[in-house]
Amino acid sequence: METQKVTVPGLLRAKSKGEPIVAVTAYDFPFARIADEAGVDFILVGDSLGMVVQGNETTLPVTMDEVIYHSRMVARGRRRALIVADMPFGSYQVDARDAVENASRLIKEGAAEAVKLEGGEAVADTIRRIAAVDIPVVGHIGLTPQSVHRMGGHKVQGRRRGSAPGQRDRVLSDAMAVEDAGAFAVVLEGIPADLAAEITDRLSIPTIGIGAGPQCDGQILVLHDVLGLCDSLAPKFAKKYADLWKDARGALAAYAGEVRERAFPTAAHSFQSLQTVPDPPIAAEG
Ligand code: KIV
Repeated sequence: METQKVTVPGLLRAKSKGEPIVAVTAYDFPFARIADEAGVDFILVGDSLGMVVQGNETTLPVTMDEVIYHSRMVARGRRRALIVADMPFGSYQVDARDAVENASRLIKEGAAEAVKLEGGEAVADTIRRIAAVDIPVVGHIGLTPQSVHRMGGHKVQGRRRGSAPGQRDRVLSDAMAVEDAGAFAVVLEGIPADLAAEITDRLSIPTIGIGAGPQCDGQILVLHDVLGLCDSLAPKFAKKYADLWKDARGALAAYAGEVRERAFPTAAHSFQSLQTVPDPPIAAEG
């Protein structure tokens, strides 16, 4: 595993060398440290924090200040990985000037090194404006969680082949638009594997898949899904590499049990008073 700092040109080189890119989300200092030490290439401070950290049903309520707060914590925990911060809903749709200002805040205040925003052709001009001030941009197309109400849920996109001017063509043209606008990478979420493979083949920037099959240039997952940090069912495309929910629940139940039985703390976890040594008598002179 490379120990060198991951950079935007480094990720572009990874695609040309055919080296898979590993990404995960993180939202705070300890998990950023763990992801960084595990050799993850880029850490996304995702607006998924609205769901997995804040407990909302969608990502829509997340604010700029909240992403900045989490991004700063992540930045303090990272040594090698590139940090990408998500632009939350409403922070880039109003106008391009507003988008550039908010992207700049994520870099200045959130200590991120790149920003991500959702959408294809519809946000191409916005991507162009942000990239023009040298803020690296990651696109995000396919299943875009901020469009949950338009999509009628978190649904796989571009599945149907055929005559209708389908979602499939739309996903493809979105991918081209994002690259053309100057994004340096693009997240492909919730699309069929063959469509993701075609996009990966056509684009010169890296594709980072989540629920998009094995042929993307890299993969990203939500931290809570990888580590099993939620009690809810993980999405079909996610793989659970640990069951921290079960472990944490078990550990806290053990702690609660020992406190109730007065088995914790023991002397080993307690401080003892220091013995006070009386001052020696002052010898009488002469
Ligand atoms: O917010 C997020 O975690 C994301 C990933 C699912 C790519 O956008």
